[in-house]
Amino acid sequence: NLLNVEKEPVRVLVTGAAGQIGYAIVPMIARGVMLGPDQPVILHLLDIEPAAEALNGVKMELIDAAFPLLKGVIATTDPIEACMGVNIAVMVGGFPRKEGMERKDVMSKNVSIYKAQASALEKHAAEDCKVLVIANPANTNALILKEFAPSIPEKNITCLTRLDHNRALGQISESLDVQVSDVKNVIIWGNHSSTQYPDVNHATVQTSSGEKPVRELVSDDKWLNAEFITTVQQRGAAIIKARKLSSALSAASAACDHIRDWVLGTPEGTWVSMGVYSDGSYGIQPGLVYSFPVTCKKGKWSIVQGLKIDEFSRAKMDATAKELVEEKSLAYSCLN
Ligand code: NAD
Ligand code: LMR
Repeated sequence: NLLNVEKEPVRVLVTGAAGQIGYAIVPMIARGVMLGPDQPVILHLLDIEPAAEALNGVKMELIDAAFPLLKGVIATTDPIEACMGVNIAVMVGGFPRKEGMERKDVMSKNVSIYKAQASALEKHAAEDCKVLVIANPANTNALILKEFAPSIPEKNITCLTRLDHNRALGQISESLDVQVSDVKNVIIWGNHSSTQYPDVNHATVQTSSGEKPVRELVSDDKWLNAEFITTVQQRGAAIIKARKLSSALSAASAACDHIRDWVLGTPEGTWVSMGVYSDGSYGIQPGLVYSFPVTCKKGKWSIVQGLKIDEFSRAKMDATAKELVEEKSLAYSCLN
């Protein structure tokens, strides 16, 4: 009986696995939140030498949790062992932003890590490995990874802006007092930074009398055009201020959403935001990892085409692209 045949395990790499996001995401992956309740997984956990003992503690807890889907745990400080044969790579390893720092401030530390890990992934990961970069500056780290791993198809390298997307859904749901699951099709354009543009022009809410545009339901245009945008742009900083640590449970959950939708597909009529290598869509220059609205099917994402962009949006989409151009040249100057 085919239904009783267990699927082959998928190998999932988590770098920085002894850190905060690592601690939140590994149980989610082992419970099937990322790849589905019938998909066995083998976790590959990477961290650096000073965190080796803590990493081993995480491995001990994973064993103690007796997750039925978890078919193995490799915990290591060797990037080659960590990358060997992985099908999914969740790149969290790096230095987080602290209070008062901009994401750019963590640039020099993190881009050199991504250059080195690009080579390990290129040489040792499975051929079709899907990569999600979370560590900041996420878009630029993903770009560096892509450029230093030329044999990984560029469509397989993405960065996380799903957290910003989910934050935008959350703000609309709070403001309208509706279920977050009834809100859809917000867009995060651009950089995972304070220049990102959360766009509600195409977003809708499912109501008892059908699907309604968010712009029709929120009467206060001023809120949508100002406070809503800055709240989403500054949410990361607000969490750091409140927790003295950057977001972890919401970041881990968004990372699972990102990979799940990429691998298993987005629901009909719904798009999500992903940082992907620009193909020139919406006038965004190729050569940047930029967040776009995407739909996913059979393990492939495609950028939603043909959305109307007004002048207000255009200016904001260009401003965040400009920051990414600057980050790219800063990243290269850090590497030289
Ligand atoms: P953390 O400091 O708790 O954990 C980071 C871990 O990475 C540490 O255990 C550290 O030892 C490890 N590490 C450092 N260098 C490494 C290397 N070369 N190889 C492997 N591991 C290495 O940080 P965190 O709170 O888990 O955040 C991780 C990253 O994610 C940060 O850069 C943070 O800014 C970013 N972040 C991004 C988003 C997003 O939405 N894109 C959201 C939240 C946090
Ligand atoms: C976030 O958005 O929560 C993270 O990127 C942390 C940060 O640096 O803001």
